[in-house]
Amino acid sequence: MSRILPIADPAARAEAAACIRGQGIVAFPTETVYGLGADARNAQAVARIFDAKKRPSFDPLIVHVADPSLIPSIAEPDPRLAALAKRFWPGPLTVVLKKRQSIPDIVTAGLATVGVRIPGHALARTWLEECACPVAAPSANPFGYVSPTTAAHVAAQLGDAADIILDGGSCDVGLESTIVSLAEEKPTLLRPGAILREELEALIGPVEIASDSMREKPAAPGMLAKHYATRTPLILLDSGESLAARAHPRVGALLFRPRADIKGFGTVAVLAPDGSLRSAAAALFASLRQLDALNLETIVAEPVPEEGLGVAIMDRLRRCAAAL
Ligand code: TXA
Ligand code: MG
Repeated sequence: MSRILPIADPAARAEAAACIRGQGIVAFPTETVYGLGADARNAQAVARIFDAKKRPSFDPLIVHVADPSLIPSIAEPDPRLAALAKRFWPGPLTVVLKKRQSIPDIVTAGLATVGVRIPGHALARTWLEECACPVAAPSANPFGYVSPTTAAHVAAQLGDAADIILDGGSCDVGLESTIVSLAEEKPTLLRPGAILREELEALIGPVEIASDSMREKPAAPGMLAKHYATRTPLILLDSGESLAARAHPRVGALLFRPRADIKGFGTVAVLAPDGSLRSAAAALFASLRQLDALNLETIVAEPVPEEGLGVAIMDRLRRCAAAL
């Protein structure tokens, strides 16, 4: 198994940074989900990530940096970036820009664009600074499975594929970053997340939503319908559809908030004991994993309100359900 070391420990960070510089791969926490990182300038190190995740080579990686001053060496300038960076970085936003030569093709799956992000997790940024290189990192899960929000999730699924797992506890946000592309004709939302489309629009004007046909193109492969999927088939109910009608001892129920009227399920998981979308987002992937470990026949999820962070939660639930 990979060694799990606390990211709060300077000696652990130094060792993990040396590992990155020596072509190693390191799992690390961010405020969204755990990433699996390698030196973004080094094609061989990056190839190890694709191998570890069994990720198809057409799916590009996000490049993580500690500081905006590094971005000009990775991507071409865009006049809209400054406003987004000032407001949302560090934080759960990935911006797709035209790429520079310094980033090898393997990172971007041959695309002329690159996704960049400055994570909101302070210790992750400290570590990225210590790496002294841009770090290419997808979520630290096998391709297609639910993203990890704890170090234990990473260890359980990637086994010893990572050289080191830096442990920073549970991820605050719990859903992958919002991805906006500034490299299309019009700004385009490639993946909803904690930074809302409306918040982006307030700064840079209208933001298109990536169409389904666009999602099938290699330009946004992470948006493939079948993604973020549990092994247990998941059914997402329409709003107003009866959950009680699905009760069965071999079925697990995934509730948005506590309800007293739910009986007859093998198990019931509640995303948000406090009823907030924020809590639901933070708990979503861990809850899906817990249910997935129980050998149920199906998981039945009730929808969450599709507003604010609920848009991103419903996006992940729909993708999980699409894997049926
Ligand atoms: O929150 C996050 O973004 C996490 C943490 C670790 O930073 N990372 C993450 O990476 O979710 P990943 O690889 O699981 O999802 C990133 C998705 C890719 O699947 C791909 O669709 C999209 O970002 N992407 C990356 N570069 C792109 C590009 N140049 N053009 C279009 N889409 C891109
Ligand atoms: Mg992923």
